Amino acid sequence: MKKRVAFLASGGGSNLQALLDAMRAEDYPAQPVLVFSDKAEARALQRARAAGVRAEHLDPRAYTTREAFDAALVALLQPSQPDLICLAGYMRILTPAFFNAFMGRIINIHPALLPAFGGPGMYGHHVHEAVLKAGAKESGATVHWVVPEVDAGPVILQARVPVLSGDTPASLAARVLEQEHQIYPEAVKRVCSA
Ligand code: GRF
Repeated sequence: MKKRVAFLASGGGSNLQALLDAMRAEDYPAQPVLVFSDKAEARALQRARAAGVRAEHLDPRAYTTREAFDAALVALLQPSQPDLICLAGYMRILTPAFFNAFMGRIINIHPALLPAFGGPGMYGHHVHEAVLKAGAKESGATVHWVVPEVDAGPVILQARVPVLSGDTPASLAARVLEQEHQIYPEAVKRVCSA
């Protein structure tokens, strides 16, 4: 039986796309059941619809607290019975309401070699700026289990890339993103085969 995967994404969803593409293979051990976004206009939702996957949105502004929003999200996800929840550029910090429902079933991809360059505030271009500022010789991407402490869960898979002289946050991000698209489908495959 294929494992059932739900996705949470806020943005472009290129990692989501890499996973949706991988999941089309008959022998891939997981299938997409739902893509959720907190942004109505997220390209991730368009990618889901184009792939024939259920796309859902809730507007955070309609909820008075982050917990209330996460409780509504849990209620939305639960009927789909996800075995695994993949965060793919999801820009909201999850609350206990979410962890109580899905702890141990949530994974994320981060654009650096955790535990380096992770934690609160380390997202998007901030990560690559920090890597360059630190003079690191290499960076990379990490797929990891999600725990309440941001970017602190056990590592599932990493890929390394060199930092090149003349790199900008954008050029480094592009090199890392290429690796993200390789290791996220591989990590999900491993988790869902285990
Ligand atoms: C990626 O860099 C990922 O590491 C981070 O958010 C970005 C999402 O990009 N968590 P995309 O939406 O998958 O293109």
